[in-house]
Amino acid sequence: MIHWLIQSFDDCPEILRSDVPPAWLGPAERRRLAGLRVDKRRRDWLLGRWTAKKLVQHYLAETRDERPALNEIYIGADPDGAPYAAHCEGEGGWGDLFERLPVSLSISHSHGVAFCGLIESFRPRDGCLSLFSRSSAFRPPCLPSLGCDIEFIEPREPSFVRSFFTEVEMRAVEQVRHVLPHLDAAPAMRSALKCIPADAPAGFSRFLQPDVNFNRRGEANAAYGIAAIAADDLLATVIWSGKEAALKAMREGLRLDTQRIACLFGALAAEPMQEWKPFRIDLDKQLAARFPGVWSGWWRLHGNHVLTVAVLV
Ligand SMILES: CC(C)(COP(=O)(O)OP(=O)(O)OC[C@H]1O[C@@H](n2cnc3c(N)ncnc32)[C@H](O)[C@@H]1OP(=O)(O)O)[C@@H](O)C(=O)NCCC(=O)NCCS
Repeated sequence: MIHWLIQSFDDCPEILRSDVPPAWLGPAERRRLAGLRVDKRRRDWLLGRWTAKKLVQHYLAETRDERPALNEIYIGADPDGAPYAAHCEGEGGWGDLFERLPVSLSISHSHGVAFCGLIESFRPRDGCLSLFSRSSAFRPPCLPSLGCDIEFIEPREPSFVRSFFTEVEMRAVEQVRHVLPHLDAAPAMRSALKCIPADAPAGFSRFLQPDVNFNRRGEANAAYGIAAIAADDLLATVIWSGKEAALKAMREGLRLDTQRIACLFGALAAEPMQEWKPFRIDLDKQLAARFPGVWSGWWRLHGNHVLTVAVLV
């Protein structure tokens, strides 16, 4: 089951109001915060931590009937940058114990909104334990591995699409640009986008039911702005977001060439865009051999953002 949560500064206004480290951070997290000098980075990092902690708190209550305070949940980062969640025994000071939770956690932030996802992740990938040494920055993903991403929908330069997209993705964006300029041309979009392969593996949607009550306020806040979205901007944004989600599930981020991953979307407007829908993730041959397994991609709208989740099982 995939758990996810969206939060904005409205959910934690103290991030904007005060320079004092919030009480919901443990001492180790406060030390990390102290190292962040740029205001925007501090605010984004705090909103990501807040969202991840709330999500983990909710997950523990739901699955283990445990109710730790937010400052007893530690959100750390491995040397490759990928986040993890741990129980913190003590106050998170030097010498205290951190018990890593068996979950794959992912964090993303954009324009004052943070989106986090997690999935239980018990099974070491083949060779995972023998390959990983404590001194190495390379920590191959245990499975399932989840990556999530939130992106603001905005125009992308043609040079951006040429530099980062695969041929098939470029053609898809080009086709949408010519066939239907705006998203409110939904019937035309439906037929145009049907040309794009849409055989994403089925069966994951049951994992992505929104937690009852948990995201309700976000849903209400997000119900605006849809008619103004140009279809090619939406498609380019969701392709880019899907790539970033997959790159995070691989724990690589933009160290990898984004043209080695293709994200293929089916009938974007065939169903309500505020519901999770699948997309296909294809890796080039070498990457597929390095990250074997089955990929699932999921996307939806949230106001003027797109959300994507990529899972490698
Ligand atoms: C992962 C990456 C693509 C995300 O970039 P982005 O779209 O600008 O930012 P997002 O808000 O969507 O995601 C940021 C989050 O990705 C996560 N992240 C960073 N590196 C990651 C990795 N290798 N694997 C998975 N997740 C990663 C972090 O949790 C980060 O948020 P935080 O630093 O506040 O905890 C980008 O940061 C990247 O390529 N990082 C790897 C390369 C690199 O230089 N890393 C520095 C290592 S310290």
